[in-house]
Amino acid sequence: MLLSIETSCDETAVALLDPTSFESDLGGIVRYEAISSQAELHRPYGGVVPELAARNHTEVLGPMVEEALGQTGLSLADICAVAVTVGPGLKGCLLVGTTFAKSLAYRLGVPLIPVNHLLGHLAACDLRPPSERPAFPRVTLLVSGGHTALLHTENERRLPTALAQTRDDAAGEAFDKTATLLGLPYPGGPALSHLAASGDPAAFELPRGVAADPASFSFSGFKTAVRRIVEELATAHALDTRRSDVAASVERAIVETLIDKTRFHLQSVPARSLILTGGVAANKLLRTAMSELARSAGVDFHTPPLVHCTDNAAMIGAEALQIRSRKSAAFASWEPRATPTHFLGPDVSATLGVRPRWPIEEGWNIPQ
Ligand code: KG4
Ligand code: ZN
Repeated sequence: MLLSIETSCDETAVALLDPTSFESDLGGIVRYEAISSQAELHRPYGGVVPELAARNHTEVLGPMVEEALGQTGLSLADICAVAVTVGPGLKGCLLVGTTFAKSLAYRLGVPLIPVNHLLGHLAACDLRPPSERPAFPRVTLLVSGGHTALLHTENERRLPTALAQTRDDAAGEAFDKTATLLGLPYPGGPALSHLAASGDPAAFELPRGVAADPASFSFSGFKTAVRRIVEELATAHALDTRRSDVAASVERAIVETLIDKTRFHLQSVPARSLILTGGVAANKLLRTAMSELARSAGVDFHTPPLVHCTDNAAMIGAEALQIRSRKSAAFASWEPRATPTHFLGPDVSATLGVRPRWPIEEGWNIPQ
């Protein structure tokens, strides 16, 4: 079994994947998976507190791996490799996962596979038998609380290229920040979407970001516009009665911003599949709009089950298994990499090889 670990933000996740099943059509790729969410821990602060997040990862990660083995009746000797997210993400959180993974891989003498979190999100749609996976070329919209990117993947041997990405806030952040302006509890995306269902999406005109730049999404101007509307409504004592109208207008503006850019690029690159992933994929309006867009463009629409859209370890394992099949020289091969040198040396963060900031334009090379 491949053991995969994800601790880049506020979810601790572990999974056990069967590498043989990944290559066959028999199913049963994910033997076990568990996610421990810290949402309750951070709720009082209205956002993720990095130090609290890292500390919580250290407490739950070890017991979660023990539980994974206990539940499946496997032992440490059954682990053939360890995959772990090395970035992007919160530094302290990444260090917890990578230190744990390196220690374990070193102790077991098995390969350690460092994984880019974004590539993990892209691999989430491959946690199914090969014949059911989305056909290449693929266009993937990744929308979460931390990322907004539209990516193009030519074939299974190639790494994705970015068609567009956010210049400021992520789409999920835009939902969360406007939800906060409306007085909804963090993370407000789902609550805002719920409220929007009873509102009028045409009630307020909102900017659509930097529409002229095909390579960018932008949501920050949009947040300022919502703040102004909310303040004006509050002054007029009309906020309570118009809250759902604001929510519906916000939801439509964010979804249209995402869809317009996706449509533009879908017309300009070869594609057979359109994929929606990331936590914002839970948004019904966005799912419907994406599936309609795919239909009108004549491509297949795919979205992983929600549990694999949000942060999880199974997707990290899926990407690790693809690293192996890609056999790209740019990536580490499946060699034992957790040597004592990873724990020595003057620059601890360098020797541990995490990459908290990892812009797509800097490429996918794994830190050594
Ligand atoms: O991928 P994810 O679980 O986490 C991180 O990025 O860490 O995505 C969470 C994001 C949050 O911003 C949340 O508000 C947003 O996804 N979200 C939604 C909905 N459900 C979750 N946004 C809009 N509508 C929803 N139904
Ligand atoms: Zn994520």
